[in-house]
Amino acid sequence: MDLALIQAAYIIAGLLFILSLAGLSKHETAKDGNNLGMIGMLIALVATLWLALRGADPLNWLSIATAMAIGALIGIWRARRVEMTAMPELIAMLHSFVGAAAVLVGFNTFLASDAGASDGVHLVEIFLGVFIGAVTFTGSVVAYLKLAAKISGRPLMLPARHWLNLFAGIISLGLMIWFVASHSIVPLGIMTAIALAFGWHLVASIGGGDMPVVVSMLNSYSGWAAAAAGFMLGNDLLIITGALVGSSGAYLSYIMSKAMNRSFISVIAGGFGQDGGAPTGDVDYGEHRETNPDEVADLLVHAKSVVITPGYGMAVAQAQYPVADLTAKLREKGVDVRFGIHPVAGRLPGHMNVLLAEAKVPYDIVLEMDEINDDLPETDVVLVIGANDTVNPAAEEDPNSPIAGMPVLEVWNAKDVIVFKRSMAAGYAGVQNPLFFRENSAMLFGDAKDRVEDIIKSL
Ligand code: TAP
Repeated sequence: MDLALIQAAYIIAGLLFILSLAGLSKHETAKDGNNLGMIGMLIALVATLWLALRGADPLNWLSIATAMAIGALIGIWRARRVEMTAMPELIAMLHSFVGAAAVLVGFNTFLASDAGASDGVHLVEIFLGVFIGAVTFTGSVVAYLKLAAKISGRPLMLPARHWLNLFAGIISLGLMIWFVASHSIVPLGIMTAIALAFGWHLVASIGGGDMPVVVSMLNSYSGWAAAAAGFMLGNDLLIITGALVGSSGAYLSYIMSKAMNRSFISVIAGGFGQDGGAPTGDVDYGEHRETNPDEVADLLVHAKSVVITPGYGMAVAQAQYPVADLTAKLREKGVDVRFGIHPVAGRLPGHMNVLLAEAKVPYDIVLEMDEINDDLPETDVVLVIGANDTVNPAAEEDPNSPIAGMPVLEVWNAKDVIVFKRSMAAGYAGVQNPLFFRENSAMLFGDAKDRVEDIIKSL
């Protein structure tokens, strides 16, 4: 009876996860999607605990409850403190936990089972679970260090790096055959060391501007690591949940690599970042022009159409509220205001959409890059609010640029471009932006929130 109820709870949780993913695919339903996911996870947790502890020693209950309480406290404390801008590194860190858990589950399953009696399929499950877990673990740690700017975002360019990756893969395959034939822990241990180094190298060799694809790829890997742990533990729900995360993460990576104009296969293989080429940081693009809030306000009230392209700086400044306010004021005056969102603007997939939704900007004026690019030549004013790499013409014009080939918002085609930022510093990819020196561009220096508020006052 117990088991039938647990199975029913698993099916309900699985369905809720699928509905949650469906909800998350649209702005309007994203909150409901999140809630469904949380309810599903609560049901899954209760059912799994029940399954694990049926008839178990009360001491087991106590140790699991204590571990969960400590974990939950740390999780709540961290989630309450984290800034929106630090979410990507938090997510990368959480992915590393999933990887580490899969490695521990793998070794534990192997040591706890009678190795001599384990069948080949079970051993392959353990081997693959540990492999994926170890790659996810170190890959996510490197992603965390890069995103938190604790190590350089520049790609590590080891000589023959693709051969190194291939070599690691072939050796691991050989070790798997040895493991299944010998039932010994030695090949499992050697493979773990190789997989840890492989994961490290895979992400270390990817350049700063390509990190979005890496984040979603690691998301996918963490899902497969969880699914592998589900196979090892014989837990159906973990397999379903892991497969959902793994496949949705893989699809997101596919969408992202398309948006960045990169090949999906080279993303999975790793190391597709900068393949050489001189950095464009030191090129002299001439003089830039500065403007002030009064001039911008004047330009805006006389414009027919305005496009706002937000980027990471809007998130840092938390400028979305005054931006929403400015939008409403301009619309009241009859100006056609729309937003152009680059797929990798900010530091998270959908980062800008979340901020604008939070500030209650109507969804129907928030357009994607492909939808707005053709309209930019007919646009009077573009406000580039804290965006840099995503509006950099070097991506189209300079084949040596590290971001060459990445589709960008072609804001320079508009009549006037106002760039909100605090200095002439480069963006995330570390390359200078020739847009700032164009004749139709003017820089509005300072914190984006303060400057937008100044413009509102001046209107
Ligand atoms: P970035 O290229 O990161 O540039 C942001 C700009 O905002 C900076 O140049 C900075 O200039 C300015 N800024 C920072 N704080 C500001 C503030 N308080 N007020 C005004 N301006 C401020 O932005 P982007 O165009 O959004 O591009 C995103 C980059 O991140 C891409 O290279 C992308 O590949 C990468 N990335 C994206 C993701 C995802 S999934 N979206 C994940 C990882 C990496 P100042 O310092 O001069 O102010």
